[in-house]
Order: sequence, then structure tokens, then C-alpha cells
Amino acid sequence: MTKPLIIAVVSGKGGVGKTMLSVAIANELAQGRKTLLLDLDFFNRGLTGLFASAAAKVRREQVRPPELFTGCQPAGDWYLVAVGANLFTVEYGDIEKSSAAALEAMDVQALSNALGTFIMCLCEQSGCEIAVLDCHGGPDNTSFAACAIATHSILVSEPDKITLYGTLNFVRQMAAELPDKKPDIRLVFNKVIPAFSARFLQKFYDDLLRDQFGGNDLLAIYPFEPHLTKGFEKTPFLTTVYPTSQLAIKTNFLLHDLLAARDASYLPPKAMRVGRVGSLISRYYMGRWPRILDQNFIFRLIGFAAIGLVARTYREQNLLSGMLDSAQFFFITAILVLWLFVAAILNWLKDLDIFLTYSLRSGSYWVAAVGCVTLAMLCLGGTAIAGSSGYLSNLYGVLLILPLYLYARRGWLNIKDDRRYLEGGFRMALTAAATATFGITAFST
Ligand SMILES: Nc1ncnc2c1ncn2[C@@H]1O[C@H](COP(=O)(O)OP(=O)(O)O)[C@@H](O)[C@H]1O
Ligand SMILES: [Mg+2]
Repeated sequence: MTKPLIIAVVSGKGGVGKTMLSVAIANELAQGRKTLLLDLDFFNRGLTGLFASAAAKVRREQVRPPELFTGCQPAGDWYLVAVGANLFTVEYGDIEKSSAAALEAMDVQALSNALGTFIMCLCEQSGCEIAVLDCHGGPDNTSFAACAIATHSILVSEPDKITLYGTLNFVRQMAAELPDKKPDIRLVFNKVIPAFSARFLQKFYDDLLRDQFGGNDLLAIYPFEPHLTKGFEKTPFLTTVYPTSQLAIKTNFLLHDLLAARDASYLPPKAMRVGRVGSLISRYYMGRWPRILDQNFIFRLIGFAAIGLVARTYREQNLLSGMLDSAQFFFITAILVLWLFVAAILNWLKDLDIFLTYSLRSGSYWVAAVGCVTLAMLCLGGTAIAGSSGYLSNLYGVLLILPLYLYARRGWLNIKDDRRYLEGGFRMALTAAATATFGITAFST
């Protein structure tokens, strides 16, 4: 058997999102080839915990434990488990803390040999051609060994100063441990909060960090997506149930940037189709909507406008005797309300759509049906009102229908790429229905 493609996911400290990214990467790679996802965080076993309920239901096959714990303790039973169509993981029991010291006492070379042999055996037994290694957070020997045997390593960091310090420490210590090996290691920023812009991080990387990563580009910047933290508790396969999350989108771009040059044959279909322009946009786009559609921002502005108007009324006793005549006053109010409406409806539709996709893909069809009906009512009600009166509300209709065309396009891709007929069909049908409603109401009045 040929050597599998190995991707190690490491970090300078815990909690930065290695496990979440490892599962996302493995789940996407498994759309193309059989993939093994291995938990090398032996003492926390976050990944094993994540798959525990899924693993209990499926067929498992006993495997020989790695030669890492021999002499320390009985290693217990280790099993190879299929957790998805093309995705495997290894399940094992608690490992005593006392073994941690023994493991860390092994030198990196011996650890790499033992790990390498273990992974080869697992891949042979399962037919996997790719292995993704989810490591322990911190500069430990197991992580260095994982990087030593990996084809590519991904170092995950948050952009704050404290985490970055640990990240650079990891790179320095690894260089000292593996002096004559230059592992291909790339940096990923994860859990990036709105206080950091992608442009700032990109420039920061280019100016100060690039040299420490062999001159390679910054691999990806993932925003912090609060709904994913919650979703991760319900399903490990976030990229399947939240296909429009930045996690799902950016993971395919990440795979493209990581593998296209030398390992393109391992790319899953979605990552294969990535073009130059898309890649560039994804590098900077963080899933944030422009200010003009941000509800908090609009409420703030409208709040200020209302305070201003009330203040004027008090000062002049009569609102309409001053600068504004009643037509102007009506026009300004109408524009503010229209703006608020479009933003509120778009934000609501977006949330409903995420909910709908999640429900459909996790098999809750009744809940999905409720989502579909609500979404359709909101959308068709909105376009009917828009079509029925005046040119301002027509404008509102156009503002709603334009994004619906992008929505229909996504529906078409759902059908073409993923064979999700129900989901894609609904999106296309909704766009058609909304357009028809708008047209009919606009013409009949
Ligand atoms: N981009 C993200 N957006 C939101 N939550 C995230 C993101 N990345 C990770 N998390 C959350 O952060 C926590 C730690 O992630 P985890 O993958 O377990 O980290 P690690 O394996 O590095 O210790 C989890 O609750 C996870 O859901
Ligand atoms: Mg983890």
C-alpha cells in the first residue's frame, strides 16, 4: 500500500479549535477519498467523546494499539469505527495520567516511528488513503512526531497576543526538535472576532510571521461563528449541516490552497472547483454583512433619528412648521422604515434558512417543514406587500428579490453537486413563487 496523505492539526495551546477544524477537514476530504480521523489528544480525547454516541451504533473492528503505551499499562481494546460513508476513526478507552510522563519521555524519533507504523496499519485495514491527526494542544512530543510524519501540518491559532506567543513558541521548539526535517507547516487563524479584520491579520502575517512558516502564505482565517459552538455539541459534521457557514466554505478553500500544487488528486470535488477569484475573495471575506444591513447599526441610527425628531418637536412645538413639510417628513420616515424592513427580513430569512438546512440534513423532517412554511410565508407575504402599492414598496420588492436569485442558484447547485433534491427544489421553487407573487400583485394594482 502507498503511504497515505497525512495532515496533522496542531496548536500552541488548547481550545483554539483543532478538533473542530480536524473534523471539518476530514469530513470534506471524505467526500472524495476514504479518510481516517485520528485522535492524538490521548488524555483528553475530545474527538473520541464527540463520536461516542455515533460509534456505539455502528460496526467496529478491533485494531492493534500503537506501540506507545507498552510497558506503562494495558492499552485496553482499540477499535476502528466507520462514522460516515467514507470516514473512519479509532475508539479507545481511558489512558492513565501516569502514561503521559512515559509518552513524553519517548524521543520524537521513536514516537514518529510508532505513530507512522500505527497509521499505516490502520489505513491498510480500513482502506483509507488520507489520515487527519487531531493533536493535543501545546508543544508536546506527540505533536512534533505528528508533524514529522505528516505530509502537511496545520498550526491553529487565535489572533490574540497570548495565543500567538504560544503559537510561535511551538514553531521554535519544533525547529529545535526536528533540526534536519523542515515540516511543511501552515498557519490558520481561527475564532476571529469582529475586532480583527482579515486585512489586518493578513498584513500582520506578511510583515511579522511569514518567515517562520517557510515563506508560505497564511492558509486561512476563520471567523468565530457562535452558532457553530452550539451545533458542535449536537453533531460533529458541521460542514454537512451548515454548508453555508464560513467553516464549510473556507475549509474547501483551505484544502485547495494546501493540496492543489502537489496533491491535487486528493481534493474533494468542491475544493477542486475553486477558482483564483473565489480563493482571493474567501481569503478576505469573513461572512460579515455590510454595516448597512446590520440590525444593531440600523436600530442605533433610527434611535438617534427619533431622538432628534422628538427634540425638534419640543423646541419648535410644531414638528412640521420648521424645515420639513409633511411630504418630506413622510418620505424620510418611509425610507427609514423600508430600510429597517429589508434588513429585518433578510436577517430573519438567513437565520431560517440555516435552521432549515440543519433540520433537513440532520433528519428532523417535521421541524424542517415548519421552517419551510415560515420561510415561505415570510417571503411571499413580504413580496406581496411589496408588489401591491407605490414605488417605494416596489423598490423594497426588488431589494428582496435580488438576493432570492442567489438563493435559487444555491438551490440549483445543491441539486447538481450534492443531489439534495428536496432542499434545492425548495429554494428554486420559493424564488419562482416570490417572483410570481411580486409580479402578479404589482400588475394587478
Ligand atoms: N470558528 C469557530 N467558531 C465558533 N466556535 C468555535 C470555532 N472553532 C472552535 N470553536 C469552539 O471552541 C471550542 C474549542 O474547540 P476545539 O475544537 O475543541 O478546540 P481544541 O481541539 O483545539 O481544544 C469548542 O466549543 C468549539 O465548538
Ligand atoms: Mg481537541
